[in-house]
Amino acid sequence: MNDVGREPPAGHILLRHREIPEIDNLEVYRQNGGFEALRKAVTLMGPDEVTEEVKTSGLRGRGGAGFPTGLKWTFIDYDRYPHYVVANADESEPGTYKDREIMEGNPFQFLEGVAICAYAIRAETAYIYLRGEFWQIAESLDRQIEALERSGFLGDNLFGTDYSLRISTHLGAGAYICGEETALLESMEGKLGQPRLRPPFPPSFGLYGKPTVVNNVETLTNVPMIIKHGGDWYRNIGTEKSTGPKIFSLSGNVERPGNYELPLGTTFRELIYEHGGGIPNGRLIKAIMAAGASSSLIVANDEALDTKMDYESVPNVGAQLGSASVIVIDDTVSIPWLINKTIHFFKHESCGKCTPCREGNYWMVHLTERIAQGQASMNDVELLYDVASQIKGKCLCALGEFSIEAVLSGIERFRTDFEQVVAD
Ligand SMILES: Cc1cc2nc3c(=O)[nH]c(=O)nc-3n(C[C@H](O)[C@H](O)[C@H](O)COP(=O)(O)O)c2cc1C
Repeated sequence: MNDVGREPPAGHILLRHREIPEIDNLEVYRQNGGFEALRKAVTLMGPDEVTEEVKTSGLRGRGGAGFPTGLKWTFIDYDRYPHYVVANADESEPGTYKDREIMEGNPFQFLEGVAICAYAIRAETAYIYLRGEFWQIAESLDRQIEALERSGFLGDNLFGTDYSLRISTHLGAGAYICGEETALLESMEGKLGQPRLRPPFPPSFGLYGKPTVVNNVETLTNVPMIIKHGGDWYRNIGTEKSTGPKIFSLSGNVERPGNYELPLGTTFRELIYEHGGGIPNGRLIKAIMAAGASSSLIVANDEALDTKMDYESVPNVGAQLGSASVIVIDDTVSIPWLINKTIHFFKHESCGKCTPCREGNYWMVHLTERIAQGQASMNDVELLYDVASQIKGKCLCALGEFSIEAVLSGIERFRTDFEQVVAD
């Protein structure tokens, strides 16, 4: 039943529209094996077997935290119903644009993944929460969902079983914080998009207080392939602990920015120089941000460039893989200028619920502004470091923690950049 030991396919597993034109058309998707995995799950496998297969695959959440997906599904409280699946399509991290390409290019594989997840956790309702700017994608997903209902792949009694499922889209209003899963759930309930105090976590207390799985778009798009080929087949891709393919969104000072689907464990050097074509105008690479604006600044030396991009290796160079949005920074970029940009973003997006994030980012904007404009002293740099350190570990959600990553690592690792711009 499973393709154990088979080599992973040469082409894409997620960005399949790059090889198969019009795979966003249901007929074309079906001709290429579409909805066979859902049929297999619903007619031949029990829900727990599906979850077990996903656990075997080693799939980890692609929304940033890398949490094991199958394990998350087992946390659902099976004593309380209904259950919900919420696909996180908020995608607001600066430099991250992978979910958008999936939903635009290969939407049925994503929808099939949502449906398989719903079956596995015994949910009959699933939602897709999209950032407000993705209204055109929401409209096309609505049309695709209708097409699935007409073809019998969604709705009542799927494949002649007693399992029924409905999927709806929900548009946010364009707030970064609503990508954080509990703020997202609050927003879906019509409340202010602010994070909840945890525990309890969504699998026990989620949407409308009911057991809910929140998974990222890319995470769910892996699932049909895992069910089709088997978890052991999937484990052949990537590294032992970071299995499968990953879409790396490459941007910044690089010749060929774009989404690159590569096995987890590919090195920064391969992504930036082989796929991305290197740094424009022969400039030197200075720093790398691996996880968009939320990332620490990695000093781009040989050790870093030869580091594997997986959940275990990136921490060895003082950062996290996160959403794998790799921003390349060359030697023309001043680090104080760069962190002023990231802090502007976080200050604007802080929801204001907890004081360290709200006030801390306010003060960091003023300090980084003065420093970047050359109107500050080294004492201001120390003060900035102190403010950022005070935020650490004291916030209600990770937004505040993300905001200080570039500040602390920038001051620690690129001190001369600060010495060059300060007044004394
Ligand atoms: C400030 C903030 C923004 C986030 N934005 C997103 C997002 O846009 N998309 C996403 O999938 N996860 C985002 N996350 C992570 C989610 O909270 C959650 O961990 C994720 O959706 C779980 O899915 P996964 O297990 O498939 O990764 C964000 C987290 C934080 C703290």
